[in-house]
Amino acid sequence: MSVIIKLENLSRVFSTDEIETHALQNINLEIKQGEYVSISGPSGCGKSTLLSILGLLDGCSGGSYHLNGKDVTNLDTKKRAEIRNKEIGFIFQSFNLISDLSVFENVELPLTYRGDLNKQQRKERVESALTRVDLSHRMHHFPSQLSGGQQQRVAVARAVVSQPAILLADEPTGNLDSKNAEQVMSLLDALHREGATICMVTHDPAGAERAQRAISIFDGKIVEANQPAVSNSIAKQPEPELV
Ligand SMILES: Nc1ncnc2c1ncn2[C@@H]1O[C@H](COP(=O)(O)OP(=O)(O)OP(=O)(O)O)[C@@H](O)[C@H]1O
Ligand SMILES: [Mg+2]
Repeated sequence: MSVIIKLENLSRVFSTDEIETHALQNINLEIKQGEYVSISGPSGCGKSTLLSILGLLDGCSGGSYHLNGKDVTNLDTKKRAEIRNKEIGFIFQSFNLISDLSVFENVELPLTYRGDLNKQQRKERVESALTRVDLSHRMHHFPSQLSGGQQQRVAVARAVVSQPAILLADEPTGNLDSKNAEQVMSLLDALHREGATICMVTHDPAGAERAQRAISIFDGKIVEANQPAVSNSIAKQPEPELV
């Protein structure tokens, strides 16, 4: 399987007036196509910083980052946004939908930015992504008219609509009750079974267990990266009904 993400000796230092925070130190990480990786660790250990760098929302202070074989360590903001839009699907804890765009328009946005698809092609892609998350019947609603679980599923549709190389999720169920959280987790499981490469930050040990590989971070360093046996819990999870 090809390597989608390769970090070598990556570091990130935040400098403010009084202090330097070494948020990430000497991170070496490889994620291969089709893998499902979880990242856990205590608050402030660097999980979101790592995910932001993987998602090209932030740059690093040292080391290197190769995405799909391409060196993306030192790109300017414009080039970074362009690659992010094509290669990365990001799911945030707080959904981050645009409130004055409809569900359809929110999901269409990454395709609109790309500019290489015509209106009909975009429509087909958006409808298929919304069908995938069982929300095609809510296409013309606005985010405020949806439940939290539904909003997060729209965010999943927006993340997959570009058919990105990797899906990154930062505490995707952190703002959801247990039933809605289970629906979103099942959706990620299903996308993984269909071939998606996923890297998910989670506080929840049960969530981490659903991934094939669990990585723990402490104080900006990877302290544990285990690769459990193939028998993961995905196959045993019942599919909850989506509403
Ligand atoms: N923009 C910033 N400027 C300065 N320091 C920052 C910045 N972003 C993060 N940090 C610091 O970097 C460290 C790692 O933060 P990060 O948000 O990655 O933690 P986290 O593991 O995601 O925590 P949580 O579980 O609470 O979300 C923290 O000490 C934080 O204060
Ligand atoms: Mg965080």
